[in-house]
Formats: sequence, C-alpha cells, structure tokens
Amino acid sequence: MRVLVVFESMFGNTHLVAERIARGLAGSGEVRVASVAEATDDALAGRDLVVVGGPTHVHGMASARTRDAAREQAGREDAGLAMDPDAEGPMLREWFDGLTLPAGCRAAAFDTRLHGPAALTGRASRGIAKRLERHGASLVAPPESFFVGRDNHLDDGEAARAEEWGASLARASGAGGPG
Ligand SMILES: Cc1cc2nc3c(=O)[nH]c(=O)nc-3n(C[C@H](O)[C@H](O)[C@H](O)COP(=O)(O)O)c2cc1C
Repeated sequence: MRVLVVFESMFGNTHLVAERIARGLAGSGEVRVASVAEATDDALAGRDLVVVGGPTHVHGMASARTRDAAREQAGREDAGLAMDPDAEGPMLREWFDGLTLPAGCRAAAFDTRLHGPAALTGRASRGIAKRLERHGASLVAPPESFFVGRDNHLDDGEAARAEEWGASLARASGAGGPG
C-alpha cells in the first residue's frame, strides 16, 4: 500500500501527530509525510490511502484570519510556543480547492483540538472528511481528534495514540496484518 499523510500545522502539534500516524502505518507499505506544500499531484500519484489532518481553529479548519491569530498568540512572550517550520505554507482549504485524488483512493481525516465535546470545541476533521469524500475518496475510519491542553501542547499519551490510530488505519485498509 502507498500512503501519504498530509498535515497543516501552526504550533507543531498536528505535524507531530502526522509523523506518529505515519509510524503506525509504516508496516503497511511505503508511507510518506507531507506538508500541504509538499502534497503535490506528483506526491499524490498512485497513493492508495491519503490521511489528512489540521488544527481546529474557531470550530473548524484554519483560515487566513485564524492563522494570523495563531501567529500573534505564538509571538507573545509568555506563550511558550514555536511556529512549525511549515506554518507559512499553503492552507488545507486552498489545497482542497485544487485537489485531484487518485481514482479509488481511500482516505482518513484527523485534527488536533482542545478537550471537550466536539459540539462545543468544533473539530477540523469533520470539514476535512467532508472534503475528502467530495473529492471521491471513501473513508476507512471516522474522523479522529488528538488533544492539546490550554497551553497548546499535546497531552501526554496522545502521540502514542496517534501511532495506534495509524496502525488501525492500516488494518482498516486491508494492510498491516491481523487485528
Ligand atoms: C486562532 C485559534 C483558534 C482556535 N480555536 C479552537 C477551537 O475553536 N476549538 C478547539 O478545540 N481548539 C481551538 N484552538 C486550539 C487549536 O486547536 C490548537 O492550537 C491546535 O490543535 C494546535 O495545532 P498545531 O500545533 O498543529 O497548530 C484554536 C487555536 C488558535 C490559535
């Protein structure tokens, strides 16, 4: 199986989660992690599974406005946040506008967000999943969230859970052995 894990990330959490999901998928075949900028038509060509994630901003996917707010937040001295090296790249929203997925491609969506019921926090993965389906992909799993605290750092155990979720995606896609 050929897999592409695509991420958008401002503070690095979704990036880290993407890397761990890829690690969980590693036994299933050739797995590559790509920022939105790297997820070109060439990178997508021949992929059987595309896994896409981003941060939850104002109840949904990031926008130009919310990314500005994230930059402002990281700029505060006491924030303890560093911008992800890929934070200045294109947004998932733009990527979806020009996207052509390989025929028969399967997909899964994830996000990072604050704790709490999704009805209160919102979740970017819902919009990501809808867009993947609109582009003809069939989802191999429901959208999944990984949690950050109020300090915008990933909670203990969430990186390991991301790896497990990656392995479960491999199984749901018919690769990666029994279980
Ligand atoms: C401008 C902004 C708006 C946010 N809005 C929400 C929100 O509506 N719901 C939520 O659960 N988290 C919200 N958050 C927290 C983000 O989900 C969290 O910063 C993100 O998961 C970190 O991912 P990243 O490190 O990959 O950027 C917001 C963060 C920022 C900067």
